[in-house]
Amino acid sequence: MQAADLPYTVRNLALSSGSMVAVPTQSKFIRQLFDAMTYFFGRSEGTYSDHFPTSEESPNFPFKGFILAGPPGSGKTEAVIESGRMLYKVLAQEGAEVQLFHVNSANINRKGLGDNEARLRQVFRDGKSQTDKSKRTIILFDDIETLLVKRTDEHTSEWGRSMNGVFFHELDQLITTRTMVIATTNEPNLVDDAVTSRLTLRDAPAPTIEEMVEVSKTCIPIAGANGMTREQLQEKCAALIQSQIDDGEPPSFRLARKSAIEILMSDVVGWNN
Ligand SMILES: Nc1ncnc2c1ncn2[C@@H]1O[C@H](COP(=O)(O)OP(=O)(O)O)[C@@H](O)[C@H]1O
Ligand SMILES: [Mg+2]
Repeated sequence: MQAADLPYTVRNLALSSGSMVAVPTQSKFIRQLFDAMTYFFGRSEGTYSDHFPTSEESPNFPFKGFILAGPPGSGKTEAVIESGRMLYKVLAQEGAEVQLFHVNSANINRKGLGDNEARLRQVFRDGKSQTDKSKRTIILFDDIETLLVKRTDEHTSEWGRSMNGVFFHELDQLITTRTMVIATTNEPNLVDDAVTSRLTLRDAPAPTIEEMVEVSKTCIPIAGANGMTREQLQEKCAALIQSQIDDGEPPSFRLARKSAIEILMSDVVGWNN
């Protein structure tokens, strides 16, 4: 039997973050996301439900979620998932189950006429959990500029317009105490103004060079290699990171990890370019 072709991937929030290195800039950002989600999804004193007891079940409140803008590889996707893991643990204590739907354009794009609109609608339908009031759903629209195109763009097809229409309609129906949209983008200028005006825009910070070096260390052999100690290899990697930053590469977790792999290739495996 074929597995259901869902328009999203359900991320398992009970799993630990694995190889993630906790660094201050990203940890602060994750904390801010966590606090905002706790405010809307929690039910204890000082939360949205406590502050606005009469409007708890209404879609009228104008906050529907965030759009996080930041350079590629700056850890946006990872930050959203990690804040989801934290929220999952904390809200379990009040009997709520947090789930995270991860949506990429590949989850949505299908060939048939109207397929994409139907799939986008299904994301929201499943994410609204009408029947089970203990559920809270984060819908992560990753790299949203690849899913929704700017309507003023002359290349925008009818298709693009109708996808945007579905998105806005569904977003306006959301009840934020149960479902929240978090979109990410590397290209905020390509995102339709109607998206940025409906979601709360926040900058996702890139890691500092020091933090990049910290992350790169996890990809260097613990015992060292080829007569070099671990520290010597780490220093070479730090120098490589610095030189690329000096050459104008934007800081990112991706660059940190890629640099460590270059050192691994050249100094451990012995494959020089
Ligand atoms: N704190 C971290 N420690 C280690 N690796 C990280 C960390 N944050 C992100 N990464 C990794 O860096 C890469 C880029 O992160 P990602 O979240 O995909 O960035 P973005 O979504 O901004 O493009 C991914 O492979 C991710 O797993
Ligand atoms: Mg991403």
